[in-house]
Parts: sequence; C-alpha cells; structure tokens
Amino acid sequence: RDIEPVVFVIFGASGDLTRRKLIPAIYDLFKCKLLPENFALLGVSRSKLSDDDFRQKAFLNNELFDISEEPAETVEAFAKLLFYQPIDTNSSDDYAKVKSRLDQLDGEFKTAGNFVFYLSTPPVLYDKIPAFLSAHGLNRCEGSFRRLVIEKPFGYDSQSARELNKSLTEYFPEDEIYRIDHYLGKETVQNLLVTRFANSVFEPLWNRNYIQHVQITSAEPIGVGNRGGYYDESGALRDMLQNHLMQIVAHIAMEPPISPSAEAIRAEKSKLFQSLRPIAESEVAKYCIRGQYMASKMRGEMVKGYREEEGVPSESKTETYAAVKFFIDNWRWSGVPFYIRTGKRLPTKVTEVAITFDRPPHKIFRTDQDLHLAHNQLVMRIQPDEGLLLSFGMKVPGEGFDVKNVGMDFHYSDLAEADVPEAYERLLLDCIKGDPTLYAHGDSVEYSWKFVEPILKAWKNDDSIPVYGYPAGSWGPELADDLIEPAEITWRNPC
Ligand code: BG6
Repeated sequence: RDIEPVVFVIFGASGDLTRRKLIPAIYDLFKCKLLPENFALLGVSRSKLSDDDFRQKAFLNNELFDISEEPAETVEAFAKLLFYQPIDTNSSDDYAKVKSRLDQLDGEFKTAGNFVFYLSTPPVLYDKIPAFLSAHGLNRCEGSFRRLVIEKPFGYDSQSARELNKSLTEYFPEDEIYRIDHYLGKETVQNLLVTRFANSVFEPLWNRNYIQHVQITSAEPIGVGNRGGYYDESGALRDMLQNHLMQIVAHIAMEPPISPSAEAIRAEKSKLFQSLRPIAESEVAKYCIRGQYMASKMRGEMVKGYREEEGVPSESKTETYAAVKFFIDNWRWSGVPFYIRTGKRLPTKVTEVAITFDRPPHKIFRTDQDLHLAHNQLVMRIQPDEGLLLSFGMKVPGEGFDVKNVGMDFHYSDLAEADVPEAYERLLLDCIKGDPTLYAHGDSVEYSWKFVEPILKAWKNDDSIPVYGYPAGSWGPELADDLIEPAEITWRNPC
C-alpha cells in the first residue's frame, strides 16, 4: 500500500458523528485493507473515558453500527488501533496531553509524525483548536504532514466564513485544510462530472441553446428530530442549500476542467460561483420561497409541526423548506433558469437533478402527453436508487404518427459489481492520502455564502416575506410552483 502512515485524531470523539459515520467508515477502510499499514486512531473529547471505554462506546458496543456479522479477528484487530485522550478542549494547557499521547502513539505505530486532526466539534471550537495545536507545535512538522479536517458549517455568513478561513490559514496552509461536504463524497455527485465530460452525447447539448431549465431537488421525509436547537439557528438554507446543493450546482454547471485534479476542478468551480447572479434583497420575495412544516398525518402517522419540535421556539420563523430560482451569468447559461429546493418532512427521501431540454423548434407530430412531458429530460438520481433516466418521444406503434414519452433508465445497482461506497469512506481515505479534490475550497465556500446572504438577510429582516406553512408529507408550499415558468412547467415530484 503506497499510502503514508498516520495517526488519525478525532476531536469531539464522544459525539454522534464519530459513532454514526467516522468509525464505521474507518473500520470499512481497515477491513478492505485501504488504510496505511501503520495506523492508529486517537479520540479526543471532554468525556472521561479510558481507551477501553472508548473502544466499547465508539465501536464494539456502538448502537449506531452493527458489527455482529463482522469477522471476529478483524474486529479485534481494529479495536486495538483505537485510543482515547480526555481533555478540556477549551484549555490550551490540556493540549500538552494530546501532544504526549501523540508522541507515544507515533513511536509505537511508527507513523512518521503524520497526523490528521478531524474536528467533529461545535463550530465555536474551529478556530480555537488549531490555535491550541499550534501553541503546542502540533500544526507543522518538517518532513511530516499535518492536516486539518473540518465539518460544516464553515461560517455562518460570508464574513464569518472569511474570518474562519483567515484564522485557519494562520495555522495550516490552505492545501492541508480539508473542508468536508459529504455530498462531494457521494459517488453519484462525482458521476455528474463523468456523465457530462466523458460522454460526447450530452456535453454538446449542455448549454442555453438546448436546455430549457434545470431543477435540483433534495427532499427528506424526516423532521429535525433531536437537532431542533442546531437547526433553528441554521434552517434549510444554511443546512443544505449553501453547501450541498451549491456543490451540486457547481458540478452541473461548471466549465470542463483541464484535468480531474483538485486545482483544476476548484478553479472551474470558483469561476462558476463568481458567475451566479446575486439575488438582491428587494427581489428575494420574487425568487425565493420559504416554508415550515406543520403537524399532519404522514405515512399513516401523526407527526409534529416544526414549532412543536424539541428545542424549537414556538414562534420560530426558521425555514424547513427553501426553493430558489436563480440565473448564472456566463456564456453557457445565459437566460437558463435554475430552480433548487430542499426541505424536511417532504413525502420521500430523494436528491436528483432534472435537466429539461427545449422542445424541437417545430411540432410535426401529435403527442398524447401534456407539454411538460413532451420535453426531453435527463434525470440524474443522486440518491436513493442512484442512476440516470433519459426520457424522449417514440412513435406509438400503429397508424399515424402518435408520439409517446418513454424512459431509458439506468440504475447503478445494475452494474454487476456496483456497491456504491459510503461518502465518508471515500472522503476520509482521500484526506489520509492527501487528495483534496472532493473537498470544498475556502474560496468556493465564501462565494456560495455571498450568493445566499441576501436571501438570509431578507428572510431575517423583512417581515412581509411570508413563511408558508406546509403539511408534513406534502411537497412544500404550493406557491413554490409559481417560481417555475412558463406556467405549464412544474416541479418534478419523484415518488
Ligand atoms: C446534513 C444536514 O448535512 O445532511 C442534515 O445537516 C441532512 O440536516 C443531511 O439531513 C442529509 O444528508 P444525506 O446524505 O442523507 O442526504
């Protein structure tokens, strides 16, 4: 394995993400022999746990990750690589304990002084931890790598994102900062680039001359659950749109990169983000719709409204649904509307991109479908049932020239050995290997904040913009349909 040895350090190791995503992903990498031969994992957090307690809690007895079917010797071998150091993460002095533990593990596992620091902590610690690591000389080491991985949110608006980037780059160089957006780790999000740039059949049509509009939908049936406190500060715009959905927009709309390298892709994304037409605060009501789910029967069960959720103030105006219409002011996309929407307590779990092509310039044949269906459409299903659906018109057998819309449907599950890997596996492996291609760059993060900021401001300050209630289990506020023009075109509501 030509991959350098490393100690992987998780700050916030007693939290949910470690048990739900990080440990399962690292275990799978270990099982598939993708980790370096010399590897150890150090969990760091406030909870007073021993190494053994941590092994139990995070791995052996992890209620969020079932290992009952896993081979006993693999489980035992992996458990031996897990260690834990309790500290007060707010106290600079305590980082001496992290340092001495790392020195010891580095010697024992011969990890050549290479450390990855993964911050799975509340964002208030994002600038503190790097400063404390630096105070103990842990952020840099001649001849070894020191990397920093941070989870979203990367700031709260464009100014805080800029400040965060500034403070992180004081301690770690930009190319050692890995901002995780787990959507970038999804195979199907990466596949958007392959679909576009590895197939000559699509790319010539991928522009204003042939595309009528683009829709991106990311729906979830779940409510905010026990994350009410976090979510109410965030809302759909900050939680999903500014990051995950804007990254999808970048993959759909950017120009071809000169290679699949991190630099080339980042450069194109950055150009694309700079071409987004800003929505002025005064125009937010026209281009954006916000909503909040209300108590309703969903799948046969009564579910709470957002304002009744734990941790959510009863007069909250935070959006659990957002739909935005926008334009990209560049040569390729001039005049093509993009529609994105995301929401909680929608009917189903689905993320997809639907590209609707213009109709042929002249109508020769009769169609038995409405105008909407008569457009050719390419639907790229990101999850679940990952795949592509291309719909186009075919002659109905028999007399005359009746045309019917048919679909050519490709499912990833039909690829013999396609086992779509978990996003976190791919991302963690890339970061251990030092490949930042699938991570968000500081510039892109700031640009995409700039784009959503006027919407955030208008929604915060302008009380005349309604927060539409929508029944849990519906497709969100009906008014979102009016965003889409012309009138005969609607949102594609996948079932
Ligand atoms: C997270 C959001 O980033 O993404 C959650 O904070 C959301 O609110 C989740 O549920 C969706 O991720 P996925 O991979 O299930 O679509």
